[in-house]
Amino acid sequence: MNSTITLAIDQKFNTATQQHMSGNLQQAEEIYKSILMKAPDYSPALQNYGLLLLQNKNFPLAEKLLQKVISSSTTDEQLLVNFAMLKTHLTKLGEATEIIERVLAINPDNKAGNGILSRITLLGDEYLTYLSYFHEWLKPQLYVEIGVHHGNSLVLADQATQTIGIDPDPKVSQALNSNTQIYSLTSESFFAQYDLNSHFNNRPIDLSFIDGLHQFEAALKDFINIEKYSKKESIILIHDCIPLNKITSERERVTDFWSGDVWKIVPCLKKYRPDLTVFTIPSPPTGLSVVTNLDPDSDILSKNYENILNEYVPLDYSYIESNKNNMLNITESDWNKIKKRARSNNY
Ligand SMILES: C[S@@+](CC[C@H](N)C(=O)[O-])C[C@H]1O[C@@H](n2cnc3c(N)ncnc32)[C@H](O)[C@@H]1O
Repeated sequence: MNSTITLAIDQKFNTATQQHMSGNLQQAEEIYKSILMKAPDYSPALQNYGLLLLQNKNFPLAEKLLQKVISSSTTDEQLLVNFAMLKTHLTKLGEATEIIERVLAINPDNKAGNGILSRITLLGDEYLTYLSYFHEWLKPQLYVEIGVHHGNSLVLADQATQTIGIDPDPKVSQALNSNTQIYSLTSESFFAQYDLNSHFNNRPIDLSFIDGLHQFEAALKDFINIEKYSKKESIILIHDCIPLNKITSERERVTDFWSGDVWKIVPCLKKYRPDLTVFTIPSPPTGLSVVTNLDPDSDILSKNYENILNEYVPLDYSYIESNKNNMLNITESDWNKIKKRARSNNY
């Protein structure tokens, strides 16, 4: 191709890109097509037209075009993430996973990449959806949540539910119901300051959600404190119990997508408290564990707390990696089966 034609194509491509970025998809498409008629291997047009087709949900044609510009040496994270997303739309989940693994090898902190991988791996609904199902099902009189942040989970409690949120640094941006109280304290300080039996006239906690500090020992302490004020059939939900990979499951946070080592609570409860019903819902982004058949009088965990920390804190992801389903008691995502499993002790 001579330089005059190349220049004309480059100019056309710039116009197409401007139209594309302004949302004039039809005009942009026409120009990309006319460029590719003249120069079928012109990569920038193949790439942008492929992305436009992805936007327009024309997945098979988008795949054909993007396949031509993506090679084994491509390091453009955004392009690879888009390509992986396209593969998920085509339900080519194995290929999508391989592409995301390439992205994460380039940048383990690619948030979109981690998000796609979690949705490929965990096939249930998002954790907030299950939390709202638990509220609808149990209609708790008293709900306690550790780790409030913007209030996205706290807001799911019903007006009829007395709702307690505990967070040393709440940043609530949701309109909460009038039956909600927020304590700006760490959970440890909260339980040290308040005896919930006298605070709530011996009314037990019916439902609770542990989503505070993402470290095993804090989640375990939260569990011990909450169980003490629960009844046998109360349900304790624990967020972040299915880690995605090694780096996001470390105790120290080095990535934006991070679940910490809260997951250790599941093998720990299985070993030290075989009397509990414990299982984990495969809900993106990082799983939701369900614990019931509680015993508010049990002191096994508090008595063995130091030993348990010595045993579990040093473990890392390799402890569960090859056998996550069994180690974390991962269940099916079907809500009716979840309810049945939670009530397998027939209260
Ligand atoms: C992941 S956010 C909670 C998200 C919220 N539950 C949701 O689903 O939208 C974790 C929160 O835990 C809080 N947190 C950190 N350390 C805590 C502690 N020791 N006790 C209670 N909350 C803590 C943080 O301030 C943060 O707001």
